[in-house]
Amino acid sequence: MHSIRRLEELGEALSAWRAAGERVALVPTMGALHAGHMALVDAARRAGDRVVVSIFVNPKQFGPNEDLGKYPRREQSDARMLAEAGVDLLWMPSVEIMYPEGFATTVSVSGVSDGLDGAARPGHFDGVATVVAKLFGQVRPDVAIFGEKDYQQLAVIRRMVADLDLGVEIVGLPTQRDVDGLALSSRNAYLTDDERLAARALPRALGEAVQALQSGAPVDEVLEKVRAKLTAAGFEAVDYVALCDAETLVPVETLDRPARLLAAAKIGITRLIDNLAVTPE
Ligand code: PAF
Repeated sequence: MHSIRRLEELGEALSAWRAAGERVALVPTMGALHAGHMALVDAARRAGDRVVVSIFVNPKQFGPNEDLGKYPRREQSDARMLAEAGVDLLWMPSVEIMYPEGFATTVSVSGVSDGLDGAARPGHFDGVATVVAKLFGQVRPDVAIFGEKDYQQLAVIRRMVADLDLGVEIVGLPTQRDVDGLALSSRNAYLTDDERLAARALPRALGEAVQALQSGAPVDEVLEKVRAKLTAAGFEAVDYVALCDAETLVPVETLDRPARLLAAAKIGITRLIDNLAVTPE
């Protein structure tokens, strides 16, 4: 596996593959890799001839009171995992390479970025869209793989790629879960043992809500029950529980189209998000 930190070297490796007509698949990450990321890498191997993984903890997507400073950084063990998984190239740019002096562009995807995490974390999706557009410009992948766990992020990226004719195929991979149902996330590492047990209420409450919605229960009652279950389980703050159109993320009041049930809630210092598909019978 080539580990590359300079743009010139990246260009050289990629142009050799392109000249050979090889299809390049990109998995953008912020590192601290876990089994969820490795599933994205497996999907990338199926989708392309060459797999590029980027690791960049993007300061533009963290708010002033968020965890940028203590976001887990494990470069060496990440690189080992990726090499063992057969990744061809690891792209690890510095902040100076990504955002050099004078950098002045922000990519903002309105509508789909506005509610849910966009409302709870102002500016977050501008940071995500800007860095992903930049990574697409640097790597020029044929296909890029993202997890459905960050469902709103996936919807923002799909919209951006369609709006800007970026010509990158976007693959969304179903959320990878631990045996207890909790969605895999780098932030699970912050949970204490007790919080970890309590956190199982999140996927459980969402799963029960999907059953209820698909059996015709009123949307507002179901959402309220999810909030109550999370609070009873020990979540201190429930940012949102919402049923939204699966593509635009506009809230829906009746289940009359493919939808997504999404929630974000805080337990201890850790903010967890999760979502499930809801399909009208
Ligand atoms: O999902 C993530 O890890 C990040 O938001 C991404 C897509 C790598 C952009 O920094």
